[in-house]
Amino acid sequence: MKVLISDGLSKKGQEILENAGIECVNEHYSPEELVEKIKDFECILVRSATKVPKEVIDAGEKLVCIARGGAGIDNIDHQYAKTKGIPTLNTPAANSASVAELAIAHMFSLARFLHKSNVTMRKGEWNKKEYKGIELNGKTLGLVGCGKIGQLTAGIANALGMKVIGCDPCVKDADGIDMVSFEDVLAKADFVSLHVPKQAEPVIGAAELAKMKDGVYLINCARGGVVDEAALLDALNSGKVAGAGIDVYVEEPTKNIDLVSHPNVSVTPHVGASTAEAQERVGTEIAEKIVAALKG
Ligand SMILES: NC(=O)c1ccc[n+]([C@@H]2O[C@H](COP(=O)([O-])OP(=O)(O)OC[C@H]3O[C@@H](n4cnc5c(N)ncnc54)[C@H](O)[C@@H]3O)[C@@H](O)[C@H]2O)c1
Repeated sequence: MKVLISDGLSKKGQEILENAGIECVNEHYSPEELVEKIKDFECILVRSATKVPKEVIDAGEKLVCIARGGAGIDNIDHQYAKTKGIPTLNTPAANSASVAELAIAHMFSLARFLHKSNVTMRKGEWNKKEYKGIELNGKTLGLVGCGKIGQLTAGIANALGMKVIGCDPCVKDADGIDMVSFEDVLAKADFVSLHVPKQAEPVIGAAELAKMKDGVYLINCARGGVVDEAALLDALNSGKVAGAGIDVYVEEPTKNIDLVSHPNVSVTPHVGASTAEAQERVGTEIAEKIVAALKG
């Protein structure tokens, strides 16, 4: 049996597959090549870079399962795969702590101008007077989405002395989060952090930004498109949004240079899950799930 490892896998994960007698092929094919090559594999393992559309699933004559190392499976046509009896495996909780920490890191960065001073000091500037920050302690964090990552973010924020409010249609009660309406999150939060899956329409557009406090901070470590990038740029330019922390983009790699180079934006290139610990957990968990699917 052969697994195509398209976007990498930890050493430990690969060992688990090989010890189960599964051949691992580490190769990242172009979309066109993938349609050609997939026919030889019982499983394709991807992260976020490789897309698995209908054409790849149809060409994968031997596919027993599709695997995603990580949480979101929106880069896989998993509904279509399901209709063909091919399950999509993922590791929903393995990287939650890493994403929660990155969301908080962006809040610290914006609150203390780390994103700016890291750039200007390298140019020899000493802009001490420009970097009069704020504390997170005592501020209100508003969570849109209170699932695994939202709840872990709340735990860290509580420890920092933040008041945490949140909204979620499926979560009625969560430790350390005062559950309120979406409208209340928008109206009351000093920092709004998004932890929802990708949806058909942006969750935060011009209308929602207008309902937020003047000088609000917005964090998107969820998915590109959850925030309307054009509306966010307008709100940054007007000062309505004092700062935005962004890990995910409508298009990746993003070409929205106006947004990422905005002085009040702290940016990372979709690295929410990119920690040694998360990669180790993701690799081990997904490899064990693949072994169970192929050999079980
Ligand atoms: N930046 C990264 O690298 C990275 C890594 C992992 C996950 N993520 C993103 O983080 C998201 C959250 O992950 P999770 O593990 O917490 O998922 P989860 O499924 O545990 O929680 C998501 C929650 O969002 C809620 N929700 C959905 N739509 C909503 C809306 N419009 N308003 C309020 N709540 C809404 C759901 O009810 C659910 O409880 C993922 O869907 C993924 O897009 C990003």
